[in-house]
Amino acid sequence: MAHVRDKHTHYESDADSSAGGEPVQDRLARPIRDLRISVTDKCNFRCPYCMPADRYGEGYPFLTRQDLLSFEEIVQLARAFARSGVRKLRLTGGEPLLRRDLSLLVEMLAGIDGIEDLALTTNGMLLKQHAVALRRAGLHRVTVSLDSLDDTAFAAMNGGRGSLGEVLDGIAAAAAAGLDPIKINVVVKRGVNDHTAAGLAEHFRGTGHIVRFIEYMDVGTLNDWRRTEVVPSAEVLGRIAEKFPVEPVDRDYPGEVAERYRYVDGAGEIGFISSVTAPFCGGCTRARLSADGKLFLCLFAKEGHDLRAPLREGADDGALEAVIRAIWGRRTDRYSEMRKNAGTTRGANQKVEMYHMGG
Ligand code: GTP
Ligand code: 5AD
Ligand code: SF4
Ligand code: SF4
Repeated sequence: MAHVRDKHTHYESDADSSAGGEPVQDRLARPIRDLRISVTDKCNFRCPYCMPADRYGEGYPFLTRQDLLSFEEIVQLARAFARSGVRKLRLTGGEPLLRRDLSLLVEMLAGIDGIEDLALTTNGMLLKQHAVALRRAGLHRVTVSLDSLDDTAFAAMNGGRGSLGEVLDGIAAAAAAGLDPIKINVVVKRGVNDHTAAGLAEHFRGTGHIVRFIEYMDVGTLNDWRRTEVVPSAEVLGRIAEKFPVEPVDRDYPGEVAERYRYVDGAGEIGFISSVTAPFCGGCTRARLSADGKLFLCLFAKEGHDLRAPLREGADDGALEAVIRAIWGRRTDRYSEMRKNAGTTRGANQKVEMYHMGG
């Protein structure tokens, strides 16, 4: 087991003391429920809203092998999160399929007690070759980021590195492998791909895949975010509904980020993730673990809490659970609500980048 040293007594705990207890709640009474695990900070795309190519060139110092948590370390932390209340795991990146042998990690995570949902968010470029192995390993479903079906807009949104055909083949392969329901995440940026949003909805009508439109967010500090580039979800919904009437659907589970709608003619469902115009911090049950083992309590956090140090010093599951419970118990983050209320946010220029903490 790489990186894990002999146990130090101060991190050992009575293994049975709090196993399987109630989910820990934060200061705003929000339980921990979901853990998004970033397995790499590298990506084969350069979406300007996330990793603009001029800032992330050839020589960019991404995490080293020693920095990265090993699969065993990720699994040990995931077990401790499950003991703290987490029921849903999502693998993210960067681009998670760039991490070698990812299916092996999926298999290890699928065996953790208490995990009910195991999903992956990917840009789809490598999905065709991995879909079957991921399904066999125990992955339940995938979410694919795909911002446009128009070649020019697609290239503008992802920095010109991807192939639309490969991504569509990846989605088809995932569907054939049974990794459903498949969700398609579409970041909408005014003047870049907003004119193609309704086309995406139309393309996936009747396929069972759920297209979700995401308002362009001010994550990190490097994407030069401007409010004028945000297209409010209501506007996108209006454009789609003009052609295909929709009606609202109740949220699937408490804390779900997307507002859901279904086509009145029964051709499926779409969703809207409106962090800018309709923040959903009140029900936010998500924790994020970076590839180097930092726990982030908010997508817009300025700093993370290092879990790798206790892990590598030999903390057992119970001790890690206690660390996680203590950190989550002090959580007060509600960035999007504050942005909406105040118009601006303090410390907004110190945020950690999204590809680092795992979308
Ligand atoms: P489901 O489990 O399928 O409902 O997925 P999910 O919505 O939890 O995960 P997904 O990765 O598909 O999330 C979609 C996108 O919504 C993310 O990539 C972010 O852009 C955004 N998002 C997710 N969670 C949060 C959050 O807690 N805060 C904000 N502001 N945005 C979020
Ligand atoms: N605003 C909105 N969504 C973003 N994503 C990445 N950066 C941003 C941003 N600035 C989305 C990706 C992907 C998910 C992981 O997060 O497109 O769907
Ligand atoms: Fe890569 Fe996803 Fe960031 Fe695009 S949004 S650069 S695909 S991690
Ligand atoms: Fe959760 Fe932070 Fe997003 Fe609010 S802004 S929903 S607290 S991750």
